[in-house]
Amino acid sequence: MTDCAIRTAGLTREFGTLRAVDGVSLEVPAGAIFGFLGPNGSGKTTTIRLLLGLLEPTRGSASVLGHDTRTDAGAIRERCGALLEHSGLYERMTAEDNLEFYARVWHLPQAARRERVRDLLTGLGLWDRRHELVGQWSRGMKQKLAVARALLHHPDLLFLDEPTAGLDPIAAAALRDDLTGLARREGVTVFLTTHNLAEAEKLCDQVAVIRSGRLVAIGRPDELRARARRDRMEVTGRGLDERIAALVAADPAVEATEVADGRLTLRLRDGHDTSPIVSLLVREGVAIDEVRKGGADLEEAFLALVGSEGPDQ
Ligand SMILES: Nc1ncnc2c1ncn2[C@@H]1O[C@H](COP(=O)(O)OP(=O)(O)O)[C@@H](O)[C@H]1O
Ligand SMILES: [Mg+2]
Repeated sequence: MTDCAIRTAGLTREFGTLRAVDGVSLEVPAGAIFGFLGPNGSGKTTTIRLLLGLLEPTRGSASVLGHDTRTDAGAIRERCGALLEHSGLYERMTAEDNLEFYARVWHLPQAARRERVRDLLTGLGLWDRRHELVGQWSRGMKQKLAVARALLHHPDLLFLDEPTAGLDPIAAAALRDDLTGLARREGVTVFLTTHNLAEAEKLCDQVAVIRSGRLVAIGRPDELRARARRDRMEVTGRGLDERIAALVAADPAVEATEVADGRLTLRLRDGHDTSPIVSLLVREGVAIDEVRKGGADLEEAFLALVGSEGPDQ
């Protein structure tokens, strides 16, 4: 096995005139929990479908566990588990019967099947409830069972498309805990999508941020967060208006400005000195209340990051 679970080069997929995935090049290290983070419609699901060989790339290439997605999709699907939009669970069957059924589909021998189903259900805290009908379960429990289903055949790589979407915060947190534990125990590489930065930060060793099909940033979550914070400055006070914003925008350190409700938000270019901005504001008669580097919270930091154009590293 290579030390790289996924490698893409200029991966591109167009639907008519829409470029859903646009020149994405990335590497996912084996064993990582890798987060693919982006707003709705940014190309996350399309990327997963490309990686599973369910869609042909328009341009570029991808290899998954060393197999080319164009020519070797069968091998990829054998060695990967996936939880996409539909869980594939049968609501009128018990949890155990669902897993038994899929284990047969994967041709696991009977003894191995029993053991695998028990291990997975136990690992997810569902063993005691194995005889219950899935249709009566909460969304969070169904989602756990769907993860178990995706892991039945001991895949080397697990794709999870927005695994916590639609879960309440408590169920989402529980699923995250179980996922991390399970991934480590199974030694499986995880590629998961989310539009929630806090989630990516809790779960993932590495994160790629995608916006409008383009890769905007890639790195450890704490690095991305630090960078997003470093790149922002917020000034509150009296006298902050469009005229002031235009003056500030002329400073070489400033990439973009926005003024609203007596608050001036600046996006900064790397490595520039920001003290002249404060001097300028004072000179122009602004009564400054507060100057803050970075956004107010993580969500804002993420928005600042996806708000910047093109790859920036
Ligand atoms: N089969 C398809 N045909 C046409 N457009 C599609 C198709 N699949 C996805 N798209 C479009 O591609 C863009 C990216 O979609 P998607 O990958 O589902 O985004 P995400 O999963 O990040 O929400 C969206 O604008 C979506 O409408
Ligand atoms: Mg999607």
